[in-house]
Amino acid sequence: MGRRLEDDIQEILYGTEEIVHRVAELGEAITAHYRDSGRELLLVNVLKGGAIFVADLMRAIDLETSVDFMAISAYGPSSDEIGVVRILKDLEEPIADKDVLIVEDIIDTGLTCNYLRQSLASRGPASLEICTLLDKTVRRIAEMPIAFSGFDVPDLFVVGYGLDYLQRYRNLPYVGVLKPEVYFG
Ligand code: IMP
Ligand code: MG
Repeated sequence: MGRRLEDDIQEILYGTEEIVHRVAELGEAITAHYRDSGRELLLVNVLKGGAIFVADLMRAIDLETSVDFMAISAYGPSSDEIGVVRILKDLEEPIADKDVLIVEDIIDTGLTCNYLRQSLASRGPASLEICTLLDKTVRRIAEMPIAFSGFDVPDLFVVGYGLDYLQRYRNLPYVGVLKPEVYFG
């Protein structure tokens, strides 16, 4: 028998039911916030980690909304410009005069999201806000306003519900912490 994913998990931080409940609350808050804006709401999702979250979140939003995807990668540690990221896949449509909501799986130092926010702000959206499932506030370097946040996560490396370790564990239906031996073999 093959090894099961859950055998690698030390602790579940946010279980499936808790996530479902919180995503529903976020959907209600987003719906209330944009209900009377009269503009198109565009969810900008950051691949790959955010894909599972946005799929659930958009079904909890009771408004006309569209979704578009970006893929970005951080430059390696040898780069002299910290926080500069490369856009691997850009949006398909212009965002001028739209209400844009960036949907992220996790904001850690904030450097990635900060760069993305500045890049999108320069394209002239009517409004620009951030929604993240997990907010690791203790690690923040680049301060930025987060309008919608699911959970304030402790300073632990977490996987599941879209988040990966070496591209694995994204399909766990909860957010958990890996056993140390998974990192150190
Ligand atoms: P930043 O430090 O806010 O720029 O975060 C950059 C990226 O690091 C996030 O979008 C995630 O892909 C990844 N990341 C940060 N913390 C975690 C974690 O605990 N688990 C999995 N990925 C993480
Ligand atoms: Mg990410």
